[in-house]
Amino acid sequence: MLNLGVLASGRGSNFQAIIDAINSGYLKAEIKVLITDNPNAYAIERARRHGIEYLIMLPKDYPSKDDYYRAIAEELKRRGVDLVILAGFMRVVKRPLIDAYPMRIMNIHPALLPSFPGLHGQKQAVDYGVKISGCTVHFVDEGVDTGPIIIQAAVPVYDDDTEESLSERILRQEHRIFPYAIRLFAEGRLSVEGRIVRIKDHPKEESHFTNPPVEGI
Ligand code: GAR
Repeated sequence: MLNLGVLASGRGSNFQAIIDAINSGYLKAEIKVLITDNPNAYAIERARRHGIEYLIMLPKDYPSKDDYYRAIAEELKRRGVDLVILAGFMRVVKRPLIDAYPMRIMNIHPALLPSFPGLHGQKQAVDYGVKISGCTVHFVDEGVDTGPIIIQAAVPVYDDDTEESLSERILRQEHRIFPYAIRLFAEGRLSVEGRIVRIKDHPKEESHFTNPPVEGI
């Protein structure tokens, strides 16, 4: 059984999607702990409801960022966590945690990386005027949203979209691809060579998604 540790800062809808995937039998894994940097995170309520242990760990309680991430790594290791899930964790993870879990930390980002890394990926896409955006699950390295990409989902961006409307459309895809990426990991189907993630027995599908749809050809 794959043991997960989830880090989340807010609402926790991706955390919930992973809980639901486990409860339905889609994902064979167990969430050992939720760690949050926000005492008001709604993710805590979700953990409570599902009987998942949670820890509130605040950076200000540690002498340095490195100490903070070392303490997080220790809590995760103590609970036998194999894979760390960043489910809306709004901080750049530092070395002590990355070194404790090399290519064992997954993040979800609300844009098609390498476009629009960092904060507010959805607003960046709307402001730029791209016609397609989406979300990305990737392994975490020391950069900001730069690690090897596991899976991406594309959604259209309409010219009357707002940050909120695009965020909702992207979120629906986040809730599909995050549990799937974890499932691929749990099934031992992911390997990383340089920055390329290879997926064993990966079906290939050629679709023809354009936005706007091409008329007449
Ligand atoms: C999600 O849209 C996630 O992609 C994003 O925060 C939201 C968290 O929602 N993460 C980032 O922007 C990371 N840089 P949730 O708390 O409902 O899962």
